[in-house]
Amino acid sequence: MTKCRQTAARMVAYGKGILAADESVATMSKRLADAGVEPTAENRRIYRELLATAPGLSESVSGIIFCDETLRQTFSDGTPFAAGVSELGILPGIKVDTGAKPCPGLPGETVTEGLDGLPARLAEYAELGAVFAKWRAVFKITAETPSRGAIRANANALARYAAACQEAGIVPIVEPEVLSDGEHNRGVCRDVTSEVHAALRAELALLNVDLAGIVLKPNMVLEGQGYGRESSPAEVAEITVSVLRAWPDDLAGVAFLSGGQSPERATANLEAMQTYATPWPLTFSFGRALVSPALAAWHGDPELVSAGQQALLERVAANGAAVRQRGELQSV
Ligand code: G3H
Repeated sequence: MTKCRQTAARMVAYGKGILAADESVATMSKRLADAGVEPTAENRRIYRELLATAPGLSESVSGIIFCDETLRQTFSDGTPFAAGVSELGILPGIKVDTGAKPCPGLPGETVTEGLDGLPARLAEYAELGAVFAKWRAVFKITAETPSRGAIRANANALARYAAACQEAGIVPIVEPEVLSDGEHNRGVCRDVTSEVHAALRAELALLNVDLAGIVLKPNMVLEGQGYGRESSPAEVAEITVSVLRAWPDDLAGVAFLSGGQSPERATANLEAMQTYATPWPLTFSFGRALVSPALAAWHGDPELVSAGQQALLERVAANGAAVRQRGELQSV
């Protein structure tokens, strides 16, 4: 088994998911400011250390995705983040895209950038201890979008990123996110997500990406936030798994993003997925659905670090319990 296959298997190991703590400096600063915390590099570091060192986190978390800033920072005792979480039994990962930028030729649409110099950056991140990476492509549903051009451009970039990661011995988390903004029903989300995944599979195949050495990080198939009626967990699970069935059996695993769902809804939907027998594990790689309660509980107060960690651990435990139902619930 190749190194990437081994690492990918550890990332989606039974009962575990991945913590996404890789908000960009700008996004993290805004979230801190909204919580009443001064958005300094030190406060971003303190907050990420709070998350990473929550006692017992590794029981249900296999890996943490960091951003460039955090990977270069240290715990308060001077241990670099990557080494620190490795000692805690957690795999360190790194977000390597440089963001969704306006796509030339396609007004209103984006293409995710970050391919320039990527092999050199991956080599440096590997030196810093990262064993997996993340790249997020974003698709917005409107009457005109996503266009075929945006789907193809982003799928090609994701595949080039994935191939570069595997050449560097780093597992790529491949994240094609169809946003839940909009008033569409979940059938529209299913059709768009299917089209995006089909384009992605084609590009991954053209660049000889080994599916057993990647982790797919898709959106759950949901109605738009402005649709008016929330699909039930059973409905979300049925339609989401129907889209994922197009992926070959050798895919290492699927780890969903939470995409702005409430923490409770994301967990309920994840649990409902476990009723389906699939060739690959269906787990979580949530950002907001794991960390929002922690940030709210801590809100910068040094006396409340433990409260913040407990809030994180509560969500992590709930999602760990959800994915541990795999096998017990499977009936289809
Ligand atoms: O790229 C997005 C994150 O990795 C997942 O974030 O669960 O808040 O959607 P989210």
